[in-house]
Amino acid sequence: MNRFVSAGLAAVIALGLGAGAWAQEITIKFSHVVAPDTPKGKGAEKFKELAEKYTEGKVKVEVYPNSQLYKDKEELEALQLGAVQMLAPSLAKFGPLGVPDFEAFDLPYIFDGYEQLRKVTDGEVGKAMLAKLEDKGIRGLAYWDNGFKIMSANSPLLTPDDFLGLKMRIQSSKVLEAEMNALGAIPQVMAFSEVYQGLQTGVVDGTENPPSNMYTQKMHEVQKNATLSNHGYLGYAVIVNKDFWDGLPEDVRGQLEKAMAEATVYANGIAQEENEKALQAMKDAGTTEFHEMTDEEKAAWKEVLLPVHEQMASRIGADLIAQIKAATGAE
Ligand code: LMR
Repeated sequence: MNRFVSAGLAAVIALGLGAGAWAQEITIKFSHVVAPDTPKGKGAEKFKELAEKYTEGKVKVEVYPNSQLYKDKEELEALQLGAVQMLAPSLAKFGPLGVPDFEAFDLPYIFDGYEQLRKVTDGEVGKAMLAKLEDKGIRGLAYWDNGFKIMSANSPLLTPDDFLGLKMRIQSSKVLEAEMNALGAIPQVMAFSEVYQGLQTGVVDGTENPPSNMYTQKMHEVQKNATLSNHGYLGYAVIVNKDFWDGLPEDVRGQLEKAMAEATVYANGIAQEENEKALQAMKDAGTTEFHEMTDEEKAAWKEVLLPVHEQMASRIGADLIAQIKAATGAE
């Protein structure tokens, strides 16, 4: 073989190897249902930025917001089938998957604020709950916050009586169903992507969500009243397809874990402020009247909503509810 031929061959081999390495680029499709300009949307973008940086481009993260790829229920199926690799569904949406434990996060007034919540999500109880996903072919990586929910409708919602007969959109959680029943409302499960239209056309009268979701879906344009009730929490479990995650080269997985840990600190660091900004923007828009609750009103809501904890013990587990309360210091 002459000098030129062997040099050419070496170049071809090098090119071939190069092409092989490119062909092995890893893609993570991260699908979610909310707007990019929300705590979850921004957290997903932060993860993409850090994951691509730490893996030096070996991993490409494609974020699909706003139910572009899948709606609530389909996205979990898509993850199990491997059509997408990463999601961050609300903790209220794991019941249909056969893991109702996460519905404990939906119990009205179970957390008095982010600090109490963090004791659960950062502690052993939170870790054990994520581990329950393994049987379903899912690995739980982190908890991300949205925030505390407010109630909205086209009529004032001051006392529980104001809910009588109202059709209220909920996520798929049985705890949320019990919550709305306790208030005398008619709960209706509806995918997040359909809520704006549902409210606009009157298929449902009202709903509950943190301000960031309400604002970015323009729900305030079709809801005349909202009560700043903070009666329950909405947050997320960031999850991946387990086979995909376990099949990653170890160094890459480590880099992605680092990216996830940092994206989690970021997402949880901005959530409260994002919600405050969204609330202010809705107040400025002037289409919704926001009601601050009096102590008497709060007491009346608690009286009808706290019994939901006991009602739901058979579904979620009295032990788990007790563990959560012990972790928060409530009992
Ligand atoms: C909802 O369906 O109301 C929320 O779970 C949407 C979300 O992901 O924040």
